[in-house]
Amino acid sequence: MKKSLLRILSCPCGGELSLDVLDKNGIEINDGIMNCVSCKQSYPIINGIPRMLPASMINNSVLRQFTEKYKESLPNHAEINDKKAEKIKVETSKSFGFQWNVFSEMHKEYEKNFLNYIEPLRPSFFKNKIVLDAGCGFGRHTYYAARYGAEVIGFDLSDAVDAAYQNCRKFPNVHIVQGDIYNLPFRKKFDFIMSIGVLHHLPYPKKGYAELVKLAKSGTLILAWLYGSEGRTFKTVFLEGTIRKITVGMPQRMLYYFCYIPAILYHTLNKLYRLLGWFGASGLAERIPFKNYAKFPFRVKLADAYDFLGTPINNYYSREECEQWIKDENLRKSSVTSLGGRSWRLFGTK
Ligand SMILES: C[S@@+](CC[C@H](N)C(=O)[O-])C[C@H]1O[C@@H](n2cnc3c(N)ncnc32)[C@H](O)[C@@H]1O
Repeated sequence: MKKSLLRILSCPCGGELSLDVLDKNGIEINDGIMNCVSCKQSYPIINGIPRMLPASMINNSVLRQFTEKYKESLPNHAEINDKKAEKIKVETSKSFGFQWNVFSEMHKEYEKNFLNYIEPLRPSFFKNKIVLDAGCGFGRHTYYAARYGAEVIGFDLSDAVDAAYQNCRKFPNVHIVQGDIYNLPFRKKFDFIMSIGVLHHLPYPKKGYAELVKLAKSGTLILAWLYGSEGRTFKTVFLEGTIRKITVGMPQRMLYYFCYIPAILYHTLNKLYRLLGWFGASGLAERIPFKNYAKFPFRVKLADAYDFLGTPINNYYSREECEQWIKDENLRKSSVTSLGGRSWRLFGTK
C-alpha cells in the first residue's frame, strides 16, 4: 500500500484513518495497522494490502502470521475480533480466493477481452482518471486500466487480492484493497467505477449496484457487466441447476479436477469450429456451441468452468431488468448494450 491511498481510503463508517507503519520498502507499506478515528475499528495492512474487513473475513493463516509477527507492537485497540460473518459471502470469498490464486496468470487475450467489456470506451479514456475496479479478482482489468494511464484501485472481497497485488505490483499507479462492496471503504473520488462479472454473484445484487452508485460523485461513470438471461432455455436452466447442486459443495481441489471435463469439451468443440472454418464450412462452424471460447487458451476455459460450477450464486438478468436498475438509481446518459448476446453492459453517469 502506498501512503497516497489515504486520500481515497476511509473507514466504511466514513471516518478518517490513522496509520501505523510496521514494515516498509521505499514508498510501499508492506505491513501496518490503520485505526478509524471515529468508530475505532482497526484494519491491518498485510503483505502490502489493506484488509478493510472484519477479522472473521480475513484468511486465517494470513491474519495469524501477522498478529504473531507484530504482537509486541499492536496497540490494544487494534484487537481485531469480529465473529459475525455472512455465510454466503464467506463461501463466495473462499471459492474466488481459491480460483484466482490457481488461475492467476495473465494471458495476452485479456486485453482484447477488457476492451470488449468496456466498449465503447477506448484506452485513451483512462488517462489521468481515478478508477475503482470493484471485484477485481486477480487484477486483469486493473492491470490494463493502469497501463492506459489511470490511477486504479483494485478492490475485492477474497484472497484474490494477493494475486492481483502480484500481477499489478509493477505499476506505481495501482492500489489493491481487500473489502466488501456492501461496506465500501472509500471517499467519493472516482471518475470511473467498473464492476465486471461481480454483482450477479452477490446475495443482493441490486443493493451492491446501489452501493457503487452511492460512492459515485456527480459526473462519475459507472459500468456494471452482468450475465444475461436471454437465450437461456429451460434445458440450460435445469442442467445448470442440477450440475451446480453437486459441484458448488465439492472440495475445491476435487472441483478443480472435475472442471477438466467441461474444459476439454469446450476445447474440443473449439478445435472443430476452427477446422470447419479452415475448410470453408463457416455456416456449419457457426452452429458449434461455445465458439466464444475459441480465441482463449485452455487454462481460461478451465478457469471459467470453475467459476461457473463453483460460485455459490449466479443470477441472470433481462435487458428490462438492467434498464430498471439504472432507472432506480436515477443515472444519466445511460445505456444497456449486449455483449455476445449473453450478457449486458450497464453504463450510467451519476
Ligand atoms: C467472477 S469474479 C470477476 C473478477 C474480475 N472482475 C474479472 O472479471 O476477472 C467475481 C469477483 O467478485 C468478488 N466478490 C464477490 N463478492 C464480493 C463482495 N461482496 N465485495 C467485493 N468483491 C466481491 C469475488 O471475490 C471475485 O473475485
